[in-house]
Amino acid sequence: MNPTATTPGGHLAPRLLDTIASLPSSFRWGVATSSYQIEGAVAEDGRTPSIWDTFSRVPGAVAGGDHGDVACDHYHRMPQDVALIKDLGVDTYRFSVAWPRVQPGGRGPVNPAGLAFYDRLVDELLAAGIDPWVTLYHWDLPQELEDAGGWPARDTAYRFADYSMLVFDALSDRVDTWTTLNEPWCSAMLGYAYGAHAPGRRDFGAAVSAVHHLLLGHGLATQRMRAAATRPIQLGITLNMSTATPATDSQPDREAVRRSDGLGTRIYLDPLRHGRYPADVVADLAEQGVSLPVQDGDLDIISAPIDVLGVNFYFGQVLSGTDEDGNTRDAQGAPVVREVPLDVPRTAMGWPIMPEGFTELLVRLSRDYPGLPMVITENGAAFDDTADDNGFVCDDDRTNYLAQHLAAVAVAHRQGADIRGYFAWSLLDNFEWAYGYDKRFGIVRVDYETQARTPKQSALWLRDTIKRVRAGG
Ligand code: FCB
Repeated sequence: MNPTATTPGGHLAPRLLDTIASLPSSFRWGVATSSYQIEGAVAEDGRTPSIWDTFSRVPGAVAGGDHGDVACDHYHRMPQDVALIKDLGVDTYRFSVAWPRVQPGGRGPVNPAGLAFYDRLVDELLAAGIDPWVTLYHWDLPQELEDAGGWPARDTAYRFADYSMLVFDALSDRVDTWTTLNEPWCSAMLGYAYGAHAPGRRDFGAAVSAVHHLLLGHGLATQRMRAAATRPIQLGITLNMSTATPATDSQPDREAVRRSDGLGTRIYLDPLRHGRYPADVVADLAEQGVSLPVQDGDLDIISAPIDVLGVNFYFGQVLSGTDEDGNTRDAQGAPVVREVPLDVPRTAMGWPIMPEGFTELLVRLSRDYPGLPMVITENGAAFDDTADDNGFVCDDDRTNYLAQHLAAVAVAHRQGADIRGYFAWSLLDNFEWAYGYDKRFGIVRVDYETQARTPKQSALWLRDTIKRVRAGG
């Protein structure tokens, strides 16, 4: 690693570092990635297109016309990347499995050549002393399944459970932790309501059906994996969540927060943990002429016991229920939920940096959904990096972001939230979905011309911080 970075994070307030150092020495530390964002090799060893291969070809869908054809070329550089992970001193690597690699077309038998990649990855990780943490679905739905209706179609949930079992049967002798979905809110809403992510549809009713079928797929897969397990395993799901604060104490502003929290958090966690959808959200949907396509028995499946909740947090929000002119309904008659611009620093994504919202979220989750250990499966930030001649990035902004958010986790932990680990998003700069390669979240820089990897200042800081916490502060 770069010798110029002798005191990574030296500028950080000592109080922040002491707070982080109060995390338990047994805390789990990791880095996270996802298949389409790093692998490349989209047509190799029998892989078929996913909705992201298709969507990224739609003119204007992805910044710069970028796509994942090569990405970080991780498919060909996997052993080198595992060595990099080991150098960071983390104990866990969270990666996702590409469904169209393992089961091309989304149905039928396993593709041994595609599965072999993950088999090798798991062995490589274990040999390096790193725990593999599998995400079964991080948004790369086989295109054929989208053509058959995608997540708004009930059958996709059953296809997902079948696919999950192909992977589980092959790797559960060595992989202890299995999470089904990454951020179903993004799959459903960004993909089917807002058209911002693959498959690019704009149909709110379809998006709400997708919510239910994603949860059903999670429950079906969870039940089957649990039944098939021959040794202790941990099962879970990862959700993206935020903390919304009302701009004022007015009724419309509090109402905006209720709605946003309902569709963002409670519509997932209530059925997962309490076996029912929140009544206020169901009523809001009915008012918009939309319903969740629940069939008898679905909620029992969805609320199948899980062992861990993956929490992805990036930013907090302050919301208002009125537009700039004071109206509570928009031109279509829908209730206004407006993000109020705040005077806080923002990342290159334009996301407001609000670490105190992270503490608030974690404490609230442990109160409203008790008895479920949490692991932070993603947290990190994009900034406009500048590399020196050696490819080194002195990313004080990202280091500071990580430190502030880790301290926020430590504070929540002290307040009693059952948080077991923290994974930085992301190991590498990568394909940031609709933003393409322009937005860099890596703690390791990737030079896309040469595919050279160079740990940034933030990576060195994280490595030192992990050592300190493990040593007991
Ligand atoms: C999350 C995604 C992840 C990455 C980060 C920045 O929503 O799970 O793939 O894009 O945002």
